[in-house]
Amino acid sequence: MKITVIGCGYLGATHAASMAELGHEVLGVEVDPTKLASLQAGTTPFYEPGLDELLGKHVTAGGLRFTDSIEEAGAFADLHFVCVGTPQLGSSLGADTSYVETAVRSLAPHLTRPAYVVGKSTVPVGTAARMAGLLSELSPVGGDAELVWNPEFLREGFAVKDTLEPDRIVLGVASERAEQALREFYAPMASAGTPFVVTDYATAELVKVSANAFLATKISFINAVGEVCDAAGADVVALADAIGHDARIGRRFLNAGIGFGGGCLPKDIRAFVHRAGELGVEDAMSFLRQVDDINQRQRQRVTAIVKAMVGGSVAGVRVGVWGAAFKPDSDDVRDSPALDIAGRLHLRGAHVSVYDPKAALTAAARFPTLVYTDSAVDAARGADVLLHLTEWPEFRTVSPDEVGSVMAHRRLLDGRNLLDLPSWRAAGFEARGLGRA
Ligand SMILES: NC(=O)c1ccc[n+]([C@@H]2O[C@H](COP(=O)([O-])OP(=O)(O)OC[C@H]3O[C@@H](n4cnc5c(N)ncnc54)[C@H](O)[C@@H]3O)[C@@H](O)[C@H]2O)c1
Repeated sequence: MKITVIGCGYLGATHAASMAELGHEVLGVEVDPTKLASLQAGTTPFYEPGLDELLGKHVTAGGLRFTDSIEEAGAFADLHFVCVGTPQLGSSLGADTSYVETAVRSLAPHLTRPAYVVGKSTVPVGTAARMAGLLSELSPVGGDAELVWNPEFLREGFAVKDTLEPDRIVLGVASERAEQALREFYAPMASAGTPFVVTDYATAELVKVSANAFLATKISFINAVGEVCDAAGADVVALADAIGHDARIGRRFLNAGIGFGGGCLPKDIRAFVHRAGELGVEDAMSFLRQVDDINQRQRQRVTAIVKAMVGGSVAGVRVGVWGAAFKPDSDDVRDSPALDIAGRLHLRGAHVSVYDPKAALTAAARFPTLVYTDSAVDAARGADVLLHLTEWPEFRTVSPDEVGSVMAHRRLLDGRNLLDLPSWRAAGFEARGLGRA
C-alpha cells in the first residue's frame, strides 16, 4: 500500500523505514530542514540500532522518500500516519497537541479522495475525537476522511524490532470500515499472531498513557523502596530479585537507580495528571505526582551522595560521568537523568567529564559547558569520583584496575546498580550503589 508518515523523528522515521521493509511504498513528511536533508540522503538524524541500515536500504531502493510538502502527501496516499511530537507545554503539565493539530489542519484540505488519517502520537484523551471533527470539517470529502488512533509502544533502543514485531496493535476506530482498512494494512502482523485490540478513540488514547503511567509507577516504587533499603541497611537488588519471582509482580522495570527520563514517560505522566484534572478526576491520578516526585528525588539523592563521598562539597571536585543518554542504545538526552545529574554537579562547581558512546553530540547541544571525552577511561582521568549513570553494556566490561589507575581517588557510585561492586572494591574502590547500603 502507499502511505505517508507525517513527522519523522524517533517514532516517524522508524515507522516509515519499517513499513517500507514490509513492502509498503512510503513518503515521509518532515518540516525540520536539517532532519529532512539527512533523511533524503538515506541517513537517520539520530542513533537507533539498525535503523540507519534499514532506512538507507529503502531510500536507495526507492520505496521510501521524504518531502516537506504536505500537498504532495495528500496526493500520494490514502493512508496517513501522524507521528509528530507532543511535548510538555511550557505553561502547564499538559501536553502540547498543537503539532498534531497543525498536521491534521494542513493535510485535511489536500484529502480529495476517501482517506484514513492514523494518529500514532501520544495524546491526552479527547484529542482524537477533536481531530476527527477537524478532519471531516476541513477535508473536501468530509466524513470520508476518517480518523483512526493507533498508539505506538516502541522502545528506543529496540525501535525497529518493536515496530516490526509489536506486542499488540491497538486501534481506536469510529467505523468497521476503518478497522478493516487498518487490519489489511497490518496483515503481516496479524499473520504473525500479533493481538489486535480494537476499541474507541478514548480507550485507545488512554491505553498508551496508562501503560506509561504503570511503567513509571513500577520504577518509582522500587526507587522509593531503595531509599528505605539505604536507610535500613538492606539491598534493593536482592529484594527486587525476590519479589520479581512472583509472577504477579515480575522482575522487569524493578531496577532501582537514578530513575526514568526520556521524551515520553516524564511528560506522559504529567499530561495524564493534567488531563484527569480537566476531566474533574484529578484525585484519581494524584498518585502520579508522587511517582514524578520520587523520580526527580533520585537525581537530588545522587548529588547528595556524591557530596558526602567527596567530603561535603563538590566545588572544585573532578567528577567522571559514564553515560548521558536517557537509556543505552540511544542518543536521546531528552529529560535524561544522567545528563541532569552531570549538569547539577557542574552547576555546583564540579569539573565534570562525560563519556557516552553515542550521545556526546546531542548532550553537548543541550549542555555545552560539560567536557565530553572519547572513552570511558578518559572520562575517569583525574577524577575524584566516578558515576555510572547510563547502563551501556561497555561500562560493564571496563577493568576497575585500569580506571582506578587514572583516577585521583578510587570512588564509584553505580547509579544503575549493574556494575559488579565486589570487583570494584577488590580494586581498592569505595564503591556504592543506590539502595544497596
Ligand atoms: N520516541 C519514542 O520512543 C516514542 C514511543 C512511543 C510514542 N511516542 C510518541 O510519538 C510522538 C513523537 O515522538 P518522537 O520521539 O518521534 O518525537 P520527535 O520530536 O523525535 O519527532 C517529531 C517530528 O515531527 C516533526 N514535525 C512536527 N510537526 C510537523 C509537521 N506539521 N509536519 C511534518 N513534521 C512535523 C518534527 O520536526 C520532528 O522531527 C510523541 O507523541 C511521543 O510521545 C514516542
